[in-house]
Amino acid sequence: MSSGSKVNFEQPEEEDDEDMPEDEEFLRRMREKQKYGRRKSVSAEGYDPDKDDEDDDAEERIVNPKSDEQRNRLIAACQKVLLFNRLDKDQFNQVLDAMFEHVCQPGDSVINEGDDGDNFYVIESGNYDVYKVINGDNLKVASYDNKGSFGELALMYNAPRAATVSSVDGGTLWALDRQTYVRIIVRANAKKRRMYEQFLQNVHILQTLEEFERQKVADAMEPKEFEDGEIIIQQGDTKLDYFYFVMEGEVKYVLTDDDDVEKEIKRDTAGGYFGELALIQDKPRAVTVSSVGVTKCGCLDVQAFERLLGPCKEIMKRNVDLYAKELEQVSSKQPAEASSPETSN
Ligand code: CMP
Repeated sequence: MSSGSKVNFEQPEEEDDEDMPEDEEFLRRMREKQKYGRRKSVSAEGYDPDKDDEDDDAEERIVNPKSDEQRNRLIAACQKVLLFNRLDKDQFNQVLDAMFEHVCQPGDSVINEGDDGDNFYVIESGNYDVYKVINGDNLKVASYDNKGSFGELALMYNAPRAATVSSVDGGTLWALDRQTYVRIIVRANAKKRRMYEQFLQNVHILQTLEEFERQKVADAMEPKEFEDGEIIIQQGDTKLDYFYFVMEGEVKYVLTDDDDVEKEIKRDTAGGYFGELALIQDKPRAVTVSSVGVTKCGCLDVQAFERLLGPCKEIMKRNVDLYAKELEQVSSKQPAEASSPETSN
């Protein structure tokens, strides 16, 4: 395998120009960093994500010099990587400094299942197929189409490569070495992981998960805040991108029947979760979910969830019957019955 690698789940990608390094600032940092040599590889095992930043500053940093043209292409590719969104400007610049270009020929294997993790990869261009050996067969399990990143799992969890990733038709990747990934990305992730882990411990359906599984859920979660009355999920939507945990506030579930009559089914507060039916059934959203007051949710990308947590999917399947019953109960009630004191007494 070459020295470069790639990475990432297909995740929602946001752009934020303010977080991009300005040219002068970037060049200054580049010159500063030329002083540092390329450091020898360091394994993730000894890494302590709680080390403070002064320790971090004492570490040597990797710099792979780039032309302006390369840097512009790199920045454009990295702007869309969700994992980088929570880095501050300095951390992001260190990542850019360390990354190096990796050009693939058609059919190249960028990552081989079972190998040690060397790099994380961001896609600039090209299509990449993901294969896994399942019951002795090498099966295609995912693909990337000119965007996204991959190769983070082995680095994040110090595990062998979970899949093989090959270039279909050639293309360009940007690779980030393991040492820099662990030093910057894993550290930036540690605070968020702790916050979500504590919360997830109290989520009933996740209580049977092992600690490392809960960590993976925590890593994949992103915070999102909703104003009072915002629609989080719209009944009938076929875009099944996220599911949600209520962290603060309240949400209500409303079913609109064939006659356009809206019926509130129930409400959830902190610890509740919704949107997971998308993981289980390939059907449009079953009800509308909206916030009651300002509500904070942890959002989990469906693809990341499926990749990380097969066992959890099985656990959630048990709830399908429960939902069916809830919907049945609500549908069988007439609107007047539901609100009339006479009928309810
Ligand atoms: P890693 O295990 O480091 O190397 C292989 C990469 O393939 C993996 O990280 C993920 O980034 C990516 N990948 C994409 N889809 C899958 C999948 N279904 N299972 C495992 N890895 C996947």
